[in-house]
Amino acid sequence: MAKEKIEVMYSEEQVDARILELGTQISEDLKGEPVKLVCILKGASFFACELAKRLTVPVYMDFMYVSSYGNSTESSGNVRITKDLDAPIEGENVLIVEDIIDSGRTLDFLTREFKKRGATKVMICTLLSKPDRREVEVPVDYVGYVIPDRFVVGYGLDYAQKYRNLPFIGAVDFE
Ligand code: IMP
Ligand code: MG
Repeated sequence: MAKEKIEVMYSEEQVDARILELGTQISEDLKGEPVKLVCILKGASFFACELAKRLTVPVYMDFMYVSSYGNSTESSGNVRITKDLDAPIEGENVLIVEDIIDSGRTLDFLTREFKKRGATKVMICTLLSKPDRREVEVPVDYVGYVIPDRFVVGYGLDYAQKYRNLPFIGAVDFE
């Protein structure tokens, strides 16, 4: 069976330093206002926890599990909520925390959904973004790293549920 080769793209130290920068920036922008972090499971869980620790404003956390369905040529919104938030978000500042933006479909759906639910502000923070793959434009407020169109794992991201626990972000070589 072929085993994937994984090349380190960003080391644990680099990622942690970048998360501190993001946390500082987000705290500054929020000017003391509380924020609800919505962590998109499972991939964003590592990132969301580290980011939360770097925020200096009051932080609340909730978790959502979404899956995409239908084929990629269908219009946006083919996203299903598998596990919903525990509490309403009406009147809150929501920061969606995602591991990676690929087509943009997931975040496009979630942004609309959270606005429908009456969030005061819906912001997006993603650890990684692959702009070359975008099919739907989404306004992203905070990005850890903009990367080329390569498949990445680690720091929460998986390949067939494997490698989430790698402490770094690595690019997979399929051979
Ligand atoms: P999209 O932006 O709606 O296409 O979906 C983004 C989701 O696709 C992410 O939350 C990941 O679960 C998954 N994904 C996209 N690219 C990668 C990758 O390079 N590695 C691991 N998961 C990925
Ligand atoms: Mg995901």
